[in-house]
Amino acid sequence: PDTKHADIEEILYSQDVLKKRIAELGRELSEAYEGQLPLFAGVLTGAFVFFGDLVRAITIPIEVDFVAAHSYGHGMESSGKLDIKKDFRIDPKGREVVLVEDIVDTGLTLNVLSKHIMDRGAKSVSICTLLDKRARRAAPVPNLKFIGFDCPDQFVVGYGIDWAERYRYLPYVGYLRPSVYSKAISEQEPAQDRFREEKTGCRNGC
Ligand code: PRP
Ligand code: MN
Ligand code: MG
Repeated sequence: PDTKHADIEEILYSQDVLKKRIAELGRELSEAYEGQLPLFAGVLTGAFVFFGDLVRAITIPIEVDFVAAHSYGHGMESSGKLDIKKDFRIDPKGREVVLVEDIVDTGLTLNVLSKHIMDRGAKSVSICTLLDKRARRAAPVPNLKFIGFDCPDQFVVGYGIDWAERYRYLPYVGYLRPSVYSKAISEQEPAQDRFREEKTGCRNGC
């Protein structure tokens, strides 16, 4: 059983539940890409835990890489701009690419990242996400083919997903206590207002 962190209100997906669903996803992906040597790319930072477990559930030859992308200009300035901090090390040209994410929220990150990879000459791009928070979709995410769970529109953390860079190491996904983030918001410096709004607005699996 999971030991619950004091800041977690309730566990949403336990280690056991995650493990079983990821084994199924591994089977689905292995069947879909049999004989194609797909390039699996984890989107840093959030996907790092899921990615490690997912690739170990794959039973066909694959290659692995990471990209690091953070969208910005959320809210009124949102225009799908994406800051790619780390691009592919393996050339995606001509490859079947599987982008692996922890969560799809507004969809901006994957909308832009998929286009970027197609522009780099990939043969195909499909997306595998552990959590899909459909209620918040603002940009279309093409080829979102492999989904672990439909996630409620609530603030979740753990298993790679952070709130202000915290809680990523928790081995399960849980609801963060509202008292944690509302307290942080009321104590913040005015200069950080915008940052906090973005964080609680949607950037971290809220
Ligand atoms: C989070 C999450 C996804 C993205 C989803 O990443 O890991 O990558 O937001 O949100 P979207 O669908 O609204 O674009 P974030 O930018 O917070 O960076 P992180 O992975 O380093 O936490
Ligand atoms: Mn991310
Ligand atoms: Mg984040």
